[in-house]
Amino acid sequence: MSLIENLQWRYATKKMNGKKVPQEKLDYILEAARLAPSSSGLQPYKIFVITNEELLGKIKDIAWNQSQVVDCSHLLVFAAWDGYSDERISSVFNFMMDERGLPHSQMDAYKQNILSLYEPLGQEWQASHSAKQSYIAFAMAIAAAAEVKVDATPMEGFVNKELDKLLDLEKQGLRSTVILPLGYRDEENDWLISMKKVRTPKESFITEVK
Ligand SMILES: Cc1cc2nc3c(=O)[nH]c(=O)nc-3n(C[C@H](O)[C@H](O)[C@H](O)COP(=O)(O)O)c2cc1C
Repeated sequence: MSLIENLQWRYATKKMNGKKVPQEKLDYILEAARLAPSSSGLQPYKIFVITNEELLGKIKDIAWNQSQVVDCSHLLVFAAWDGYSDERISSVFNFMMDERGLPHSQMDAYKQNILSLYEPLGQEWQASHSAKQSYIAFAMAIAAAAEVKVDATPMEGFVNKELDKLLDLEKQGLRSTVILPLGYRDEENDWLISMKKVRTPKESFITEVK
């Protein structure tokens, strides 16, 4: 199936049936997220894969009681850096240079450039910039899930601060951004399953500037 057919197949599943997603499909989805592009290649986010039932129950309580959180096979939690720092950026760039067999110093000027750009914008701007990057990986995971016929529900409907507390994210310099239950649609009980997919018509969505 083409990417477009997969995107037409997927939908924000409202009811999942508890069936387990095989490890190789999960790995595929996570790899697509890992390969997502990010600003300056910083990948200022992490993914937590949650299967612990007790924890999932607690997350459901702070996620508007949405059943997919407990009926899914795996819950992905995307969490982004709460800010940029010399140390964080250096650690990514040093790794990049090591992987490419180049001296760390090769990135010094670029690093100073982005630090001098980001620092005056303050921590909230930086956290928001990191969060935006995590949404790109999130979208890749959604598309990859559709490709391997795994259902996924993109979710912002949860109390971020409460989830940060549950997962002890603050200590790790992270803030939750979005969550993605992965699993399989409950064909009999999902009210959305038979609904038409609705999107803004092409003519009003796309503006050609020639
Ligand atoms: C960032 C984001 C947050 C969303 N949050 C929720 C959510 O908390 N619960 C839910 O059931 N759907 C959620 N959705 C699903 C959207 O409502 C859904 O993607 C949209 O209506 C389009 O429908 P489709 O995904 O079925 O094509 C979210 C989607 C995105 C992209």
